[in-house]
Amino acid sequence: MGIIVNYRVLVSDPLAEEGLTILRDQVEVDVKTGLTEDQLIAIIDQYDALLVRSGTQVTAKVIEAGTHLKFIGRAGVGVDNIDTDAATRQGIIVANAPEGNTLAATEHTVAMMMALARNIPQANASVKRHEWKRSKFTGIEVNEKVLGVVGFGRIGKEVAKRAIAMNMRIVAYDPFISKEKAAEIGVEIMTMAELFTVADFITVHTPLMKETTHIINDASIATMKDGVRIINCARGGIIDEQALYRGLVSGKIGGAALDVYEHEPPTDSPLIELDQVIMTPHLGASTVEAQINVAISVAKQCLSVLSGGSARSA
Ligand code: NAD
Ligand code: MLT
Repeated sequence: MGIIVNYRVLVSDPLAEEGLTILRDQVEVDVKTGLTEDQLIAIIDQYDALLVRSGTQVTAKVIEAGTHLKFIGRAGVGVDNIDTDAATRQGIIVANAPEGNTLAATEHTVAMMMALARNIPQANASVKRHEWKRSKFTGIEVNEKVLGVVGFGRIGKEVAKRAIAMNMRIVAYDPFISKEKAAEIGVEIMTMAELFTVADFITVHTPLMKETTHIINDASIATMKDGVRIINCARGGIIDEQALYRGLVSGKIGGAALDVYEHEPPTDSPLIELDQVIMTPHLGASTVEAQINVAISVAKQCLSVLSGGSARSA
């Protein structure tokens, strides 16, 4: 493959080498991570495309400064770190890599559910403090428990399939999925209010938007089963963290497993102090396989757009 006419691509978050190799074959690529907004603004007009993961905030100011930008690629699902309205105003194509990390996020969710059920992180920490407290960490089985899946898209569906294999009963809420479609894989669609009252475990898999902000709040927690366990490997802000904290401290909620937070990193969150909360640092997509998938996907889409094609046909 030859060079596509002097195009320059800036990669401002870590991207797997497999994606960089595809790009370097045809365009000039600079990898500059950890830039501040001002540093990015100072250099962005030298580039025709910008590729990011979730670290770079692609604000309206960055986009306005990017007078030569034709493409912004997000190596992952959520484009919430990109001002897509500003990009659209400037005629810049924004594309993500929605499928590449589905299984990574799915497996992380299942791992979090099992860790919650069996107190694995707490027990591990205890043994490493040279303790041997077997009864303290008695868990529960997921067998025959009800898993409530809010958001039955790519990840929600894959989580459900795996939970079915563990003999859980799956109920789901998603306004855009029909009862018939869900029933095909043995999942019962119900209202979110109903789901909250029947689930032993609740896992959220929606995007963060106005309709999904704080759907888990004081009022909805009050309707849940005593001891419910809640998992969020989707987006911070779907759960009201203050309400979650109150629910955990009161004992209404039995435990929570969080990969994402209202503020990342959640340095000041009181949730850190609670033993019954398991936390990972936004690791849902962090597998070798997923990072290769998303890097290849955005790299191909970037080259397609720069050579006059569309993003998805890449
Ligand atoms: P998806 O678009 O395939 O699924 C989202 C589902 O949410 C869709 O089926 C949609 O109909 C549904 N939905 C929309 N509005 C809703 C509402 N008001 N109530 C209930 N459901 C609603 O997305 P996905 O690939 O499954 O990703 C799900 C979430 O996981 C996203 O927020 C994504 O950013 C996040 N994610 C996080 C990680 C991580 O590292 N933790 C990794 C990948 C994805
Ligand atoms: C995503 O939206 O794809 C995830 O948050 C994962 C990530 O960007 O690392």
